[in-house]
Amino acid sequence: MKRKVCVVGLGYIGLPTAALLASKGHQVMGVDINRKAVDTINSGQIHIVEPDLDAFVQAAVAHGNLRADTSPTSADVFIIAVPTPFHEGGAIPQPNIDIVMEATRSIAPFVKPGNLVILESTSPVGTTRQVADILRSFGVDTDQLFIAYCPERVLPGKIMTELVENDRVVGGLTPEASRIVAEFYRGFVRGDVLETEAACAEMCKLTENSFRDVNIAFANELSMICDKQGIDVWKVIALANRHPRVNILQPGAGVGGHCIAVDPWFIVASDPDNARLIRTAREVNNHKSEWVVDKVRTAAQGWRAARGSEPTIICLGLAFKPDIDDLRESPALEIALDLKSKGYAVQAVEPNIENHASLDVVTLEDAVKQEALFVLLVKHRQFLRPEMAAVLRSKGALDFCGASN
Ligand SMILES: NC(=O)c1ccc[n+]([C@@H]2O[C@H](COP(=O)([O-])OP(=O)(O)OC[C@H]3O[C@@H](n4cnc5c(N)ncnc54)[C@H](O)[C@@H]3O)[C@@H](O)[C@H]2O)c1
Repeated sequence: MKRKVCVVGLGYIGLPTAALLASKGHQVMGVDINRKAVDTINSGQIHIVEPDLDAFVQAAVAHGNLRADTSPTSADVFIIAVPTPFHEGGAIPQPNIDIVMEATRSIAPFVKPGNLVILESTSPVGTTRQVADILRSFGVDTDQLFIAYCPERVLPGKIMTELVENDRVVGGLTPEASRIVAEFYRGFVRGDVLETEAACAEMCKLTENSFRDVNIAFANELSMICDKQGIDVWKVIALANRHPRVNILQPGAGVGGHCIAVDPWFIVASDPDNARLIRTAREVNNHKSEWVVDKVRTAAQGWRAARGSEPTIICLGLAFKPDIDDLRESPALEIALDLKSKGYAVQAVEPNIENHASLDVVTLEDAVKQEALFVLLVKHRQFLRPEMAAVLRSKGALDFCGASN
C-alpha cells in the first residue's frame, strides 16, 4: 500500500530512509530544521556523504515522490530520526532526548487517528512512551495511533544496502502497533522484521552498541598491554580469532561516532550500580585516545633529541572511522586537536573533507613531501594503497589503526 510518509530529521538516517521509501512509491515529505539541507534536497542533491544516496535522492525528487520542508505536514506515517546526544559533563553523561521531544511536538498538530508514529532515533528506555505522552498533552488520542520504536542498525558507507538487507526490530507500545508497524517495514525490508515491545526494542539497540563498545575496549586494552611488551597486537588478535569461538574486534585510536561512543552511556545512566563493565569499557576506550597522544608526544621528544628541532605532526585521518566524512565524537579529531592545544605544529590529512575550522588540512600528496612525524589514526583507503603504505612506512609513521597490517 502506498502511503504519505513524513520523515522528521534528514541526516544520515532520515534522508536515506526517506529516499528509499520514495523509491518504493510512497509519497514522502522530509522535514529538517536545517534550511540549507532542505534546499539542497529539493534541488535533487545531498548534503552528506553516503554512497548511492545521491542517485536515490535525485530520482525521488525528479519523480515527485520526495520533497523537503522545514515543518511537518499531515501524513499516514511519521518517522522521527533526529539526533539523541548526551548532556556533556558529569562523571556519567546523561541522555538528552530534547530533540526527540521537540520533533514530536512539531508533528503533534498533524497526527490523526490511524496514523503510525515511529521513533528510529537511538533512545533511552522509556522514550517511546514519552513520545506518546507528548502527543497526548496536545490532545491526541494515542489509543487511536500505532506508536512503535524501530531502531536503525545501518553502517555508514553501506546505508542504502543495509536499510533493505538488515533484520529490524519493531517494538510497539501495544502488540497491534508492533504488528501494523512491522507490516509497514516489511514493505521495503528484505531482512526479517521482528516484533517485540517498545522497552525491549529500545534496550536491544543500546545493547548492540554496548556489546561492540565492550569488545573494542577489550581490543584497545590489549593493544596497550601488547605495546608495553613489544608484541604486535594485530598479529595476536588475528591469531586468537582463528580459535573457533573467539572474535575480537580491532583496536584503534579510541571509539568514536555518535552511536557506539554515546549509547552505552544511556544504559550506564539508567543503572550506574549495575552497569560496571559497560562503564569501564567507555572509560577504557576514552583513555585509549589519551594514550595515543602520550605515545605521539614521546615520539616527538625522540625526534627533538635526534634532530634538534620540533617535528610537524601530520595526523592521517580525522573521521571517526574509515572512508566517511563524519567527525562526530571522533577520537582522531580529538587527538589532533589535543596535540595542537599542547603547542605542536599539527597538520591533518582527511580525504573526505575539504577543510576544518581549527586544523590545517593538507592533501596526502602534499603531506608526504614533508619531513614530519606521521601518525596514522584512521584506516582510510587512500592510506592503504600499496605505494602510499610503502611511503608511510619509510617515513616511520606511527600506526594506531592497523593500516600497515
Ligand atoms: N548515523 C548512523 O549511522 C546511525 C545508526 C543508527 C542509529 N542512529 C541514530 O539515528 C538518529 C539520527 O542520527 P543521524 O546520524 O541521522 O543524525 P544527523 O545529525 O545526521 O541528522 C539529524 C537531522 O535532524 C535534524 N533535526 C534536528 N532537530 C530537528 C527537529 N526538531 N526537527 C526536524 N529535524 C531536526 C538535523 O538538522 C539533522 O539534519 C540518532 O538517534 C542516531 O543515534 C544513527
